[in-house]
Amino acid sequence: MDKLLIRGGNRLSGSLKVSGAKNSALPILAGSLLTDESVVVGNVPHLHDVTTMIELLGCLGASVVLDEKMRVEIVARDLKELRAPYELVKTMRASFLVMGPLLAKYGRADVSLPGGCAIGARPVDQHLKGFEALGAKIEVVDGYVRATAKHGLKGAEFTFDLVTVTGTENVIMAACLADGFTRIHNAACEPEVVDLVEFLNAMGARISGHGTPNVEVEGVATLNGCAFDVMPDRVETGTYLIAAAATGGRVRLDRARPDTLQTVLDKLIESGAEVSWGDDWIELDMGGRRPRAVDITTAPYPLFPTDMQAQYLAMNAIADGTSYVTETIFENRFMHVQEINRLGANIELEGSSTAIVHGVDGLKAAPVMATDLRASFSLVVAALVAEGTTLIDRIYHIDRGYETIEEKLLQLGAQVQRVSR
Ligand code: UD1
Repeated sequence: MDKLLIRGGNRLSGSLKVSGAKNSALPILAGSLLTDESVVVGNVPHLHDVTTMIELLGCLGASVVLDEKMRVEIVARDLKELRAPYELVKTMRASFLVMGPLLAKYGRADVSLPGGCAIGARPVDQHLKGFEALGAKIEVVDGYVRATAKHGLKGAEFTFDLVTVTGTENVIMAACLADGFTRIHNAACEPEVVDLVEFLNAMGARISGHGTPNVEVEGVATLNGCAFDVMPDRVETGTYLIAAAATGGRVRLDRARPDTLQTVLDKLIESGAEVSWGDDWIELDMGGRRPRAVDITTAPYPLFPTDMQAQYLAMNAIADGTSYVTETIFENRFMHVQEINRLGANIELEGSSTAIVHGVDGLKAAPVMATDLRASFSLVVAALVAEGTTLIDRIYHIDRGYETIEEKLLQLGAQVQRVSR
């Protein structure tokens, strides 16, 4: 099993190109099931989760061809298999995203109940309520959710009880081919939802209001093929900015979308970084300074993203002062705290949703273990600032979400090595 060895102490410095967004690529790849025609998706990041989605499309009977630039061509015509198997869904919760498209186009889908990151309960009840509102019948048979709509889906008005990103995406995809008009309230406003809708509209869907809590979908009879490039990954962008800031370094990120991470940029400025940006680039300069402790509360977009909580917490661990980090999206998303404390941090948990981070002068290397996708990068941030060499185990979590992590870190001057032992 691969591990990362990181020798701390180097200030990150240099420039990087941001990869395509995982959380946008996954729903877009699933959305390709909505048409018989060829769909070409560009700027797809080379990640385990993306490979899992491609495998799933193949398993459903779609033809999938990848070129060397990670452009993926999908032709999903006359699918025979409408079942997403447990073996794939258990490794990635986002596999559930095939349910909306399959149900919309074929009137039936069997998808195993999802697994994925071990953070909180993460149910899919809101996806299912949305499908039911569109007229689907839902049953759970042998651990599989079976959705059927014998006579097709019908447009409807539906309000999510809470903001769910993939739930919003799934229900929008289902509504695209429904008969009539759908109004979705309390929809997620995340940039990845907007990216998916732009893709669907490029296929001929009629969706408006995306990026706001009220999305309207006028159902169409069929969708056509298209070519579409996935947006830059805002989580990867923010993560490298935080890593650079924690080490007192200076980085430039190209092919970025600064407009999608304004809250994070504001927090970095509060932490003491000089940050500047243009349409598609961001520069951060910490000038060797120690970060200031900054409070963080995660919330749906445009507020602070839960997917950057762990990384920011790691920076706060060595910041000047005490900070409160509050998680409002997921239960049990502080598994990294124990590991960062192994490096000498002083972080206390108050209940299950707040961490009190007392900034310490420095961290010391120790073996640690990655527990989930985003938490694992917080260990990278901590290792980059720690004295000595930290061994991070179970980095398959990192490979699910961060493209070529060692190459990117090496490019910024970190001392990092992947080892298999
Ligand atoms: C997506 C992102 C993930 C990010 C999360 C929150 C993808 C592939 N993944 O995950 O990286 O951390 O948004 O920004 O885009 N919930 C329910 N019932 C549901 C659905 C969700 O109770 O049917 C709850 C969840 O348990 C969680 C909250 O709603 O507490 C938000 O989850 P959601 O936005 O659905 O996360 P994902 O879409 O799975």
